[in-house]
Amino acid sequence: MSPDELELSSANVQALYLAASEVRERAYAPYSNFHVGAAVMDETGRIHVGCNVENAAYPIGQCAEASAIAAMVAAGGRQVVAAMVVGEADDTVTPCGGCRQRLREFANDDVPVLLADAKRVREVMSIGELLPRSFGPDHLKHQHL
Ligand code: THU
Repeated sequence: MSPDELELSSANVQALYLAASEVRERAYAPYSNFHVGAAVMDETGRIHVGCNVENAAYPIGQCAEASAIAAMVAAGGRQVVAAMVVGEADDTVTPCGGCRQRLREFANDDVPVLLADAKRVREVMSIGELLPRSFGPDHLKHQHL
């Protein structure tokens, strides 16, 4: 299945939401107590999940999106065709700046990122909206030797 053929059907939205919500329950966030779950769908339709993993050495904690992307890459996935982030706050939880760039590495501008809380999907933003005019793999195609 090519990424173009993969529609973000309501079944896919539901599957991503369930996967991200479930993994969020396993987040390791004893310092912030802010639990986040993420799920990414790859170019074959498989869903990979990740949660945030904090550390007593605070700066090396890992975001849920980074964990999900690592799981995708380890499983052989190379393209993100849709992503879901589940977190609970007054405002919609959006990926941090670093994770926007991490997602961008494997996703084009049109890829939808669904932003959800414990109850529902609150918003959908594209990678291009989250990270306009991003630096990406294509910039490295022109090599200066
Ligand atoms: N966090 C994520 O995992 N993803 C986000 O999109 C926002 C923030 C995590 C990092 C840290 O463990 C906690 O949430 C508080 O910032």
